[in-house]
Amino acid sequence: MKRTKIVLLSLLAVLACSPQAGTSVGSCPDVEARVDEILSRMTLAEKIGQMNQVSAGGDVAHYADALRKGQVGSILNEVDPDKINAFQRIAVEESRLGIPLLVGRDVIHGFHTVFPIPLGLAATFDTALVCRGARVAALEASAQGVRWTFSPMLDIARDPRWGRIAEGSGEDPFLGARMAEAMVRGYQGSVPDSTSIAACIKHFVGYGAAEGGRDYNSTFLTERELRNVYSPPFEAAVKAGALTLMTSFNDNDGVPSTGNRFILKDILRDEWGFDGLVVTDWNSMGEMIPHGFGTDRKDVAEKAANAGVDMDMMTFGFLSHLEELVKSGAVKEKTIDSAVRNILRVKMLLGLFEQPYVDPAAAKAVQYAPEHLAAARQSAEESAILLKNNGVLPLREGLRILVTGPLADAPHDQLGTWCFDGEKEHTITPLRALEARYPGQIRFEPGLKYSRQRRDRFDEVTAAARQADVVLAFVGEESILSGEAHSVADLNLKGSQSELLAALKACGKPVVAVVMAGRPLTVERDLAHCDAMLYSFHPGTMGGPALAGLLSGDVNPSGKTPVTFLRTVGQVPLYYNHHMTGRPYNGETLLDDIDLEAGQTSLGNTSYYLDYGAYPLFPFGYGLSYTSFAYSGAALDKETYGTDDTVRVRFTLSNTGSREGTEVVQLYVRDLVGSVTRPVKELKAFRRETLKAGESRTVEISLPVSELAFYGLDMVKKVEPGEFRLWVAGDSASGEPLSFKVQ
Ligand code: GLC
Repeated sequence: MKRTKIVLLSLLAVLACSPQAGTSVGSCPDVEARVDEILSRMTLAEKIGQMNQVSAGGDVAHYADALRKGQVGSILNEVDPDKINAFQRIAVEESRLGIPLLVGRDVIHGFHTVFPIPLGLAATFDTALVCRGARVAALEASAQGVRWTFSPMLDIARDPRWGRIAEGSGEDPFLGARMAEAMVRGYQGSVPDSTSIAACIKHFVGYGAAEGGRDYNSTFLTERELRNVYSPPFEAAVKAGALTLMTSFNDNDGVPSTGNRFILKDILRDEWGFDGLVVTDWNSMGEMIPHGFGTDRKDVAEKAANAGVDMDMMTFGFLSHLEELVKSGAVKEKTIDSAVRNILRVKMLLGLFEQPYVDPAAAKAVQYAPEHLAAARQSAEESAILLKNNGVLPLREGLRILVTGPLADAPHDQLGTWCFDGEKEHTITPLRALEARYPGQIRFEPGLKYSRQRRDRFDEVTAAARQADVVLAFVGEESILSGEAHSVADLNLKGSQSELLAALKACGKPVVAVVMAGRPLTVERDLAHCDAMLYSFHPGTMGGPALAGLLSGDVNPSGKTPVTFLRTVGQVPLYYNHHMTGRPYNGETLLDDIDLEAGQTSLGNTSYYLDYGAYPLFPFGYGLSYTSFAYSGAALDKETYGTDDTVRVRFTLSNTGSREGTEVVQLYVRDLVGSVTRPVKELKAFRRETLKAGESRTVEISLPVSELAFYGLDMVKKVEPGEFRLWVAGDSASGEPLSFKVQ
């Protein structure tokens, strides 16, 4: 592909991500007529074949017969363009109806160019950038024939033990919803063209509330919690035009999502008007048998079809039993027709009937394009969160720098979880980037080879530390320690990493810890052994240059925590938008201050832990900068609003430091009294503001009163009149409240 075309596509990427851009793949006007025409010619067996998805990596011949018979509607896990063309050619040219395949892949945070893990992307609070990253993923994946990604993952996660917290946007519904919209826009683009890939919003619904943080475990969310907390990102993504949705593995209140008609029909279709494709998760239909929700594959196929599932990923329940179920009347043929319409509609909106094939030669030129790497680097820069800095950062010039730690030169682990198509050969590690940034000043002593390694002596690395002016210790998690099925019960740094930090600190030189992880770890004890801590989650292909830029001060950190950082795992679950309780914690006495023979009722009369209290290590929305910001003069335009009004808050934001920086301004609201108890704070707006040193700016944020609606006692979504508080601040624990009324 000529360079000009790459630049043009990248320009399109920017256009697709501008706030004014359309938010979905435009629908072809005649698509319904064309779908009905094809449907009218399909046999029942051919209809059912469209509802069958197969993981078909590699062996085209193995599936050729099924493709010719029209028994496969979609394949996943093939990314070689020549093989995808071969699969498509059989489906299109050798089957009776020539319906193209929908080729899916987990393109979760980039295809070949790997971006920070989604939790890191959320830390940017930069929806335009996140949209651009999704667009880059779409450009690279679609060029190879992948036209469906099983992303974005929208599961609200309040338990860092859960490995899949890495894949989502953290604990907040509002942030999650904005990130969802950004990724749907990025993946699908604003018009159906050959670079659009269908988004797949997952895992519907409540999967992140797995009991005990153990993946696949049961959830027990009330309908109100589902509607007020766990489903807003999905609803936002549907409104943004997401073309597909995936059901979740968990059973909620006893009903597995893949057989849950209430969520898949009543909410998703009837309330939200979703007309896309619903696919199961991998064999989640079949897993309803061990769940104890179905007796055999025929039973669970019936339950999934009647609940509203359109496509079966890897149970083969539809292929094996739907024809018999239709003939017996257990499943109506109109149910099948509806599912097939949803599938054909997506294929048509993507233009697959017109152009099912790709140009393998052109595909190569798109991968790792400079514009793509630049977007990945910026994403890694903005996703890093400065948690502590006693002044050692940014690094002064001319220092002798020791680089150490198991993540300093770990090209595979730096990419993080869910990057099937990331290639570690393309990763630029912090060590390589720092050697380029500080030629002749870097010494490397790993100290530990991998994050789980245990050692009881660190002689080489401490000797090296004593000869250095500053130590940069890259610690965290190997990528395998987060992601699907990778939950942990202990959130501390694994192996002897904490001991390494302590040994380095004992050498008397400044220590900077850089943490690459798939979750917020409990780093309180490590903070005591470092002078600065930069938390970069897993930063992806360009993590090295990004971190070198941040550590050197070429780039000023701006990331904010998208999830609460705990003091200890025993505090789980602890999140900012919790309810007040009747005895809210007020910073009461902790273990070491309790008197001997203290009277039974002398303390502990609030909701907290005697040993760790109930405040986090770092709150949601927290992050430092190399400069400082001040908020002043906040005021509302009115004292009382009607439900159709808009609240306007105006304040002065000042850069009170010595260098330019970007602040993520956050607006929180509290509804003091409701027909049901309400969160102590809820994020309702955020915005990145870049100010020069010494600059002050008047910022105005508008909040429609309608955004304060919630599902109350009567389970009707509405704004309830009453008293409210509003904060504008740099994190969820700061700022002074303004008051207003809604009548
Ligand atoms: C996995 C995951 C899901 C993924 C699918 C296909 O089990 O739960 O997120 O998209 O299978 O790989």
